[in-house]
Amino acid sequence: MESLFKKNVLIVGATGGIGSEVARLMKNSLANVFLTGRNGAALQKLASELAIPSSQVFEMDITNAAAVEATAQKIHEQISVLDILINAAGIGIIRPLEKLTYEDFDRSIDVNLKGSFYLFKSFLPAMKAVKKGLVINMPGVLSKTPMAGASAYSASKYGLNGLTKSIREELKRTNVRITNIYLGGVDTPFWDEIDLRVQKNKFITQKEAAKSVWFLCQQPRSGVVSEMIIQPFNHQAI
Ligand SMILES: NC(=O)c1ccc[n+]([C@@H]2O[C@H](COP(=O)([O-])OP(=O)(O)OC[C@H]3O[C@@H](n4cnc5c(N)ncnc54)[C@H](OP(=O)(O)O)[C@@H]3O)[C@@H](O)[C@H]2O)c1
Repeated sequence: MESLFKKNVLIVGATGGIGSEVARLMKNSLANVFLTGRNGAALQKLASELAIPSSQVFEMDITNAAAVEATAQKIHEQISVLDILINAAGIGIIRPLEKLTYEDFDRSIDVNLKGSFYLFKSFLPAMKAVKKGLVINMPGVLSKTPMAGASAYSASKYGLNGLTKSIREELKRTNVRITNIYLGGVDTPFWDEIDLRVQKNKFITQKEAAKSVWFLCQQPRSGVVSEMIIQPFNHQAI
């Protein structure tokens, strides 16, 4: 296993259920942790819980390309390159077509797909230059298997799958690794606004989901874990 000691790790979406637990695990492993989130108050609360200096904490809307670039610049002024980028930002708008608005669709693509593209554009060149780094994305099982009502979400996440797989081809001559983790239902605030009867008590816990990300971050550099699929027992789809 690779040690996380002093590794420069950025968690995007650190205010979320999975992201915040990953941040705690990274801090416990003595990584040098950088946090971003959209909700300033939640971000500050987490930063003070984990004693992360304010210079390493950034309020950032992932749909704003200029803001993502500015954050990357500020981070690169401090450390020149990230060892690990964890993209744990995302939204879930799950509604049947007749209830899905144009805005819902745009927002799904803006956050889940275009936001991820902005992260790649802003952080990958520095990794490519030093020929090392790891990016972890969370397309989820709904980027592999369709579900009724998930057209906007799946469109954005199937897109993320295509984006990452194609970029992975471009990285073949470097040691920059991209891992996609395909989680089934995880009990996080992600589901709070979703009007669907789900059995959250049978979901993966956010702590366990975060542990799988933390585990992936420690995989030896000689190999690439391209994909990992984790689902609740009774929700296995693929
Ligand atoms: N929960 C599941 O069942 C599940 C399953 C498979 C895959 N996933 C994926 O896993 C990732 C994390 O999900 P989660 O369950 O931890 O969800 P969550 O608790 O709802 O957290 C989502 C995170 O995304 C951030 N975010 C949303 N819109 C943003 C924007 N415009 N700019 C910047 N950040 C934004 C949120 O920031 P603020 O709170 O600061 O706004 C929050 O930190 C997502 O990509 C999700 O699609 C989740």
